[in-house]
Amino acid sequence: MNLVPRVKAISPSLTLAITAKAKKMRKEGIDVIGFGAGEPDFDTPDNVKQAAIKAIDEGFTKYTPASGIDELKEAVVKKLTRDNNLTYTPQEVIISCGAKHALFNICLCLVEEGDEVIVPAPYWVSYPEQIKLAGGKPVVLETKESEGFQIDPDLLSRLITTKTKAIIINSPSNPTGAVYSKAVLQKIAEIAVQHGICIISDECYERIVYDGKESISIASLSEEVKSLTIVVNAVSKPYSMTGWRIGYTAGPKELIQAMSKIQSQTTSNPTSIAQKAAVEALNGDQGFVEKMVKEFAGRKDYMVDRLNKIGSVSCLNPAGAFYTFPNISGVLGKSDGGQSLGTSLDLSNYLLEKAYVAVVPGSAFGSDHNVRMSYACSMENIQKGIDRIEKALEQLQ
Ligand SMILES: Cc1ncc(COP(=O)(O)O)c(C=O)c1O
Repeated sequence: MNLVPRVKAISPSLTLAITAKAKKMRKEGIDVIGFGAGEPDFDTPDNVKQAAIKAIDEGFTKYTPASGIDELKEAVVKKLTRDNNLTYTPQEVIISCGAKHALFNICLCLVEEGDEVIVPAPYWVSYPEQIKLAGGKPVVLETKESEGFQIDPDLLSRLITTKTKAIIINSPSNPTGAVYSKAVLQKIAEIAVQHGICIISDECYERIVYDGKESISIASLSEEVKSLTIVVNAVSKPYSMTGWRIGYTAGPKELIQAMSKIQSQTTSNPTSIAQKAAVEALNGDQGFVEKMVKEFAGRKDYMVDRLNKIGSVSCLNPAGAFYTFPNISGVLGKSDGGQSLGTSLDLSNYLLEKAYVAVVPGSAFGSDHNVRMSYACSMENIQKGIDRIEKALEQLQ
């Protein structure tokens, strides 16, 4: 079959091979500890589930408007005011099937053949591929671990060309957990305003921050910045609702209308029942989020502390999200007596085969000096998994 070049240009997920191998090993009865989870290990809160059950019982099971129900758009507007100091009207909001869907529709609306979109690295795996699918070119903006993975504004300025359409920012970041400081956001905003480029702000992990850190939405810096910014968020991570597939976007009306047109001809509405559940998640008791973040904080501190006690590994203490991104440069080049481990993928394979621990190679996120380890798993598994990693790394020469 003759597939179009657009599809051929997309990279298959690097993490898939590891995930598939881990799955196979579990099937064979091997007790594999997984640090790969991209979703909270908590159940969806009961009030949210009950709202969905009520929606089913009341027959709210048919098509809704393609851009989502008014009640949910109003809940989003309220949330953005409450948490982010942002004022939008429901006409400036669209509901999509998760943040991933929203981000892809944004790319389809903004990116023309050959347009450039700046993506700070380490990045979430789907940004470059979505940009390519829309015909654009991802331009990677490297950030430094020694600078806490914050964006260097001078470097950003240097990457801007006449073809630059947008920059994607993701704070707190998956995979690094970095939360951009107000000063850095102000610089990014200044540059975007100066060049008239859009800011796509992926705020999916905004509620999951630690140690009193504040997650600021760049759109809240000024009306001028807001007019260039597209805020993307979802109920997926804060309410442990990854399977419900509800994300949302707030931005200029003409963009929202364009996204709505795409949805009306492609997916139609996000699931009616899930929309009702999302209304309850956003409007209801927020105690669940606080409890989850408190639990994550304890696991994070333990994981970071343990990783830093391993001589050949160093790990920053992330300010948000639920991942650590330890630096494994000290391990690369070592050997287990056979082949040397030259890449983060080699190390991930080694840890899976020898220690029965699954981690995600940093190369999937544009950084081969790191691996990503999620602490969305039990404390017991974190302890056991790191014990095994420690032992396996000690055996390398
Ligand atoms: C940074 C980031 N953006 C977007 C998404 C997608 O979220 P959703 O599940 O709502 O589509 C994820 C999910 O892992 C993510 O990590």
